[in-house]
Amino acid sequence: MPNMTSLNKRFDVSITGEINLDLILYGLAEEIPVEREILATDFRCTLGGSSSIVAHNLASLGASVGFSSLLGKDEFGRIALERMAESGVDLSGVVYAEGTTSTGVTVLLHHGAKRRILTYPGTMSGMSRADLNFDYLASARHFHLSSLFLQKALAPDLPALFRDLKHAGLTISLDTNDDPDNLWDGVLHEVLEYVDLLLPNAEEACRIARRDTVEEALVALSSRVPCIAAKCGPGGALLQTGDKLCRIPPIRVTPVDTIGAGDSFDAGFLYGYVRGASLLDCATAGNITGALSTLRPGGTEAFHDAAFRENFLREHQFPFTNREQDCPPYPRWPSVTLDSNLRSSCD
Ligand SMILES: Nc1ncnc2c1ncn2[C@@H]1O[C@H](COP(=O)(O)OP(=O)(O)OP(=O)(O)O)[C@@H](O)[C@H]1O
Ligand SMILES: [Mg+2]
Repeated sequence: MPNMTSLNKRFDVSITGEINLDLILYGLAEEIPVEREILATDFRCTLGGSSSIVAHNLASLGASVGFSSLLGKDEFGRIALERMAESGVDLSGVVYAEGTTSTGVTVLLHHGAKRRILTYPGTMSGMSRADLNFDYLASARHFHLSSLFLQKALAPDLPALFRDLKHAGLTISLDTNDDPDNLWDGVLHEVLEYVDLLLPNAEEACRIARRDTVEEALVALSSRVPCIAAKCGPGGALLQTGDKLCRIPPIRVTPVDTIGAGDSFDAGFLYGYVRGASLLDCATAGNITGALSTLRPGGTEAFHDAAFRENFLREHQFPFTNREQDCPPYPRWPSVTLDSNLRSSCD
């Protein structure tokens, strides 16, 4: 039966999580001596934070997105919010922290093909359920959470939040990203019970499932999560639905910067998902948007430049229609949940 609450939904996707700036230095030597002035060859300041990158890019693709976050009252927060707003994301779920804690920031140091990622979490680790408006989050058809291990204050309340959102008729996706403590524990295994789509990279999948290979990890996770799309960098993606595993080949590109490619994959995948596409087509779209992201610095620049984005998406078309009028009738989603999608994928 169609879930009639979906008729009143305001957004395709609601997202909660961190918003911050990425300060990116390029061209650094592998060894950085202390007490010396080290020169980078290039620098960019871009919108960062996995949650905000997903929200920005998903909205740039044309989905309606509501975003909730906790910001500091500082210049970095103001600039990040301004950049978010340009994508068309609804920001009425963003609130400001009391006190002096500043908005988080990530400094990325590029050393050839390797990079160091240094993050000051700032307000992102202080955001709790009291900062979130449940009705706002529930006014979407789908809910997405990124960077589970950075949401320190929210974590204890996440299992109940996920449960309540499911009761409100939403489907849920999770991209844990890395665990800075490398424990892969805490509420992770409690929240998995409510997750419809898990979007780790291959290494994260292995750590979550405590397996040595991504294939073993996907099999282990498939008994707990209906669909797992594992991102494999230049190798594309793996899609596990039940006992079926599909490899989705990558788009051939010459990357300039892979920061945020995983978040951009999430955006493309979710764009297909909320349009009722098969999971296989969602993963194909994820590969396209992941590849697009690598062509500009940071995670949002390739999406922010509308002409560049549209040109790439004309060349690498999504395997489903982009036109609203060709979408399934509205109530069909999210009642078209994983059962029917599962049947059509991997055939
Ligand atoms: N070199 C590449 N060539 C083509 N596609 C790529 C390349 N690197 C990344 N992608 C695309 O982007 C997706 C996500 O990349 P990746 O596996 O690096 O995610 P991640 O590690 O989660 O990234 P993030 O740093 O954003 O968390 C890949 O599944 C692929 O579709
Ligand atoms: Mg990632």
